[in-house]
Amino acid sequence: MSLDSHMAIIFGATGDLARRKLIPSFYRLLERGELSEGTAIVCLGRKPYSQTQYLERLELENFIEQHDKVLLNQLTAMIHYRSFDLDDGTAADLQSIVDEVRNLNSCGENILFYLALPTSVFATVAATIEPLIDGQGWKRVVFEKPFGSDLVTATKLNQQISAVLDEDQIYRVDHYLGKELVQNILFLRFANEIFSCGWNSNAIDSVQITVSESLGVEERASYYDKSGAIRDMLQNHLLQLLCFTAMEQPVSGYGNAVRDEAVRVMAALRPPTSEDVVTGQYVSTSSESGALSAYRQEEGVPPDSMTETYVAARVFVDTPRWSGTPFYLRTGKRLDRRYAEIKVIFKEQLIDGLATLDTPNLIIIRIQPDEGIAIAFNVRKPGEGHTSETVLMDFCHHCHFGPNTPEAYEAILASVIGGDPLLFTRWDWLQKSWSYIDRLRAVANPVVYYEAGSPGPREAAQLLDRTGHSWL
Ligand code: BG6
Repeated sequence: MSLDSHMAIIFGATGDLARRKLIPSFYRLLERGELSEGTAIVCLGRKPYSQTQYLERLELENFIEQHDKVLLNQLTAMIHYRSFDLDDGTAADLQSIVDEVRNLNSCGENILFYLALPTSVFATVAATIEPLIDGQGWKRVVFEKPFGSDLVTATKLNQQISAVLDEDQIYRVDHYLGKELVQNILFLRFANEIFSCGWNSNAIDSVQITVSESLGVEERASYYDKSGAIRDMLQNHLLQLLCFTAMEQPVSGYGNAVRDEAVRVMAALRPPTSEDVVTGQYVSTSSESGALSAYRQEEGVPPDSMTETYVAARVFVDTPRWSGTPFYLRTGKRLDRRYAEIKVIFKEQLIDGLATLDTPNLIIIRIQPDEGIAIAFNVRKPGEGHTSETVLMDFCHHCHFGPNTPEAYEAILASVIGGDPLLFTRWDWLQKSWSYIDRLRAVANPVVYYEAGSPGPREAAQLLDRTGHSWL
């Protein structure tokens, strides 16, 4: 399928996102034959780089694994670096860049604006691009997270951009929705009767949604220290995973039908209490394999910072389907390993003579790494009368579909160019999510400490007292 010919204008094109994700994703779309030949990628940054200097900076050969030289040349011919300073660059300056590139290239009137920039300049960019929004062709604007830092700031920001753009021109990215296994959740649930019939509180004991990171804050301390794990990860990625896991069947699998159901889940969240949330911050450790610094020792972090680098929350969705079933959400930095998964834990069956099943059935959606879906169930142990053993049926995504699963940002770009809003956050969802998160932050106790490289604070286990299951 070939996507519409268009001009992509990336603001903040000298940053890491463009280099690591956006430009490599354009390459993959080209490789798959989806990017139309007329596409122009206009890269804007403050610095006065020449085209050659910018291309060197992109380090395409390093950031695009297993590339083909001919395709890479085709991609670089699409890229046009122009210096544009948001402080004094006007709409007329931008228009003349657009006109100039259009003369070089047959990209037509469609424009995708990608704001790989901090929230603080979103409104400025919206005002700058306003005169370019009208006219022929589609105009779509992609906003990277964070979208605000609470309900008040997000509302203000939304008012500013809505003065210029219609909601259907606004694409608020949550890159977790672009991950292949996240897109698979709805297929697993609604395209398979064997899973959909028991997907409720009658059969399901609890659900654990985990995004565990082994890295620390790296070079992002100035942003992260003001944000923390709740706003950086829980407000967006984990709550979206919860919505996809908990939603009712949408009337179709397309954009707004799915987003309507996600909003309904958000509307049904029970207000959190302080007992529902544990926050943590990592402290230094040393072991034979080396030493890990504390969060407060990371460059750029204030030595008395109280910012949480970990959060675990117990969330209830008060709908008939989920009455009483807890969803445990947790995420943190500098944990023992990097993985993201959704674990659905079924109720235990205790039937005399058919073994005492001390291990519940599980469905595990492995979002990353080793993408796949596993089912744990119990079988009779041969020769031992009435005892059972838990076995795993494991679907390995890359073993079946091959190793080149589209990366999240490829899906994100393809969706914007194709005009499909499914993988993007609608304003009514965001509003509900911030209002939930504002409440949760207001009731959360101060951070407890956990050792860097550990599975997180012990206190998080207390959240699970209702079911007795550990973080499996
Ligand atoms: C981002 C957060 O949204 O997601 C980062 O700002 C986090 O702090 C990242 O590291 C995790 O994404 P992924 O795709 O690497 O799991």
